[in-house]
Amino acid sequence: MQTVDEEARRSAWSAYWAAGQLHSCVGSLDAGYGGAIGQFWAQQFRTLGASDRVLDLATGNGPLPRLLSSTRDANDCPHVDAVDLAQIAPAWYTPADYPRIRFHSGVRMESLPFPDGHFTLIVSQFGFEYAHREPALRECLRVLAPGGRMAFVMHHAGSVLAKVGRSELAIHERLLEAGGLLDAASGVLPWFARARAGEDLRGHVVANASRSAYNAAISEVTAYSRQLQAPDLAREAVDQVHRIIGSAAADPGPALAALSDYRQALQAARLRTAEMIDHALDASQAQALVAQLETLCAGAQAQCRPLSQAEGLLGWGMEMAGV
Ligand SMILES: C[S@@+](CC[C@H](N)C(=O)[O-])C[C@H]1O[C@@H](n2cnc3c(N)ncnc32)[C@H](O)[C@@H]1O
Repeated sequence: MQTVDEEARRSAWSAYWAAGQLHSCVGSLDAGYGGAIGQFWAQQFRTLGASDRVLDLATGNGPLPRLLSSTRDANDCPHVDAVDLAQIAPAWYTPADYPRIRFHSGVRMESLPFPDGHFTLIVSQFGFEYAHREPALRECLRVLAPGGRMAFVMHHAGSVLAKVGRSELAIHERLLEAGGLLDAASGVLPWFARARAGEDLRGHVVANASRSAYNAAISEVTAYSRQLQAPDLAREAVDQVHRIIGSAAADPGPALAALSDYRQALQAARLRTAEMIDHALDASQAQALVAQLETLCAGAQAQCRPLSQAEGLLGWGMEMAGV
């Protein structure tokens, strides 16, 4: 299911975590873990003791280790190893405050640097589904202790998050397409700078055409966003591009650099959103994962159920008790 090269994925996620987000679904979990996902994790963590060893796969900036440690005393917390393909930067964490939690950047789920049978619980929140399925499952089963458990929250193809994601992706595509708003902004910006430098461009055919193309691109994005579920994103993009154009001085260099940074940020966001949609599981894919797990681990019992709350469907909750 991997659609883009791994270095691009790693760098898109590293940039996201470096910007300080605690988790990947900003909005859905901002209110905390009071709903279905919180209940799922409370259930998984309830029986853990200080001698347990927990592995968090695709941890991001570590919302799960943070949640787990928030429920108990620092010295009574299970040992947690949290891995991610990307460089992560959990702002809430220092080794001195959380001596039992260790983060490992640049570690793929398909190749885990831990001994056989090491962990009593393996967890992942919106992370496991991003892996190459079979090698990652084999690694989980290798590092899982006899009688250990696995619990994953995964993206659901019909979830609220996937719906919003599809809408965001459509906007990203629109902004970045050839001749779209970002291209139109790059076209008009140098003319704007020349006007700022005092040049009279009123009768200038190319300058006027660039300005018209820019205005048309803004109208087009605004009209298009009205049909979608995430119109705020388009509004923010239009505002941001306007700010950059407005900041252009006689020397257009800094504004052009800002526009280029913004384009890169949008490209990274498009990649992350596309990945989320690509890896979200429908019911038959969720069942196939359960079957695959039970085949690889004879005697294990796995189940996958939808997690919903008032806002709608949030994801899948998968649990497996080992043998
Ligand atoms: C949607 S984020 C989830 C992060 C975090 N668990 C959370 O709840 O916010 C997905 C994460 O999976 C990581 N990832 C993707 N493929 C991976 C792999 N093969 N091995 C390890 N991490 C991976 C990405 O770098 C990213 O940080």
